[in-house]
Amino acid sequence: MTRAQALIAYVAEHHPRSSRGLEEARAVNPEAWDGVAEQFLSWAEGVWGPDGWQARCVEAFVVFSNDVIMSQARYEADGHYESSSFEACNAAVYSQREVMDDYLWGVFITNFCWSHHMELSLFFRDRFLARLPGAPAIVEIAPGHGGWGVWALSNRADARLQGFDISPSSIAIASSIAAAAGVGSRATYTLRNALDLATMPTASADAVICSFLIEHLEDPGLLVANIANLLKPGARAYLAGAITAAQVDHIYEFRHESELVAICEAHGLRVCETLSVHPRRFLPRARFLPRSMGLILEKRG
Ligand SMILES: C[S@@+](CC[C@H](N)C(=O)[O-])C[C@H]1O[C@@H](n2cnc3c(N)ncnc32)[C@H](O)[C@@H]1O
Repeated sequence: MTRAQALIAYVAEHHPRSSRGLEEARAVNPEAWDGVAEQFLSWAEGVWGPDGWQARCVEAFVVFSNDVIMSQARYEADGHYESSSFEACNAAVYSQREVMDDYLWGVFITNFCWSHHMELSLFFRDRFLARLPGAPAIVEIAPGHGGWGVWALSNRADARLQGFDISPSSIAIASSIAAAAGVGSRATYTLRNALDLATMPTASADAVICSFLIEHLEDPGLLVANIANLLKPGARAYLAGAITAAQVDHIYEFRHESELVAICEAHGLRVCETLSVHPRRFLPRARFLPRSMGLILEKRG
């Protein structure tokens, strides 16, 4: 039995209500799903061991998915995100090891177990990773679990990566996943606020990955300015953000895809490609459709 099959079997036995979502995610592209799931789960097994990974990954995924559903329901009722302060989110979430463990392992699994995130994973793989330049120096901002950057390093033996995250838990988990994937020697993870990266050398990155941070900030323009500053002329970034999609630590409420596009264009980035996706199922008669958007950006020469 493959790890992907073991995951499906574990969910069917312990969380049967989540099985339909997994089937929807696999249906996006069954062959690709088997490959992506196997890759992510092999890293999880490297961290948790052959007997522990199924329970750890699935329990975290179920907790995280339920939290997201509850946040979206509160957002529907209130008409705005529940958090407005980075300091409060940092105190309640990013600095709390127990909270972050479930959160980050849960997010890690959504990359292929939520159908719309599976679509985003293929966009990242086929439209961004496949086009990295030679021997790329990659900066990953807010790696969280680190899966995106580790994927890049696994695909490209000539790549190296610097990751920066505000959470000690993210640094620990991303480091453990990079080690499990056998790419730890080419990755460094440093505790740092993404908004302080303006002090990094200008035009020093061949590629930037920044997935699902922008909606966690009070001023997303500062982040995009930092990404533009880091990229070499002509270099590309992968940016992902949430649109009318609530989470306990989402602060900046993007309502339209065009807002993400405009903020990037305003900071000297060309928007080369975009993909906006949403879950197969959502609250009936919802006023907010939760979307995840990926953008491939290029620093203008
Ligand atoms: C939703 S997770 C994203 C993880 C991963 N990049 C992904 O796409 O699945 C958000 C991450 O942003 C980090 N973060 C939040 N605010 C930050 C800031 N100001 N600077 C750096 N990292 C931050 C959190 O610690 C967490 O690891």
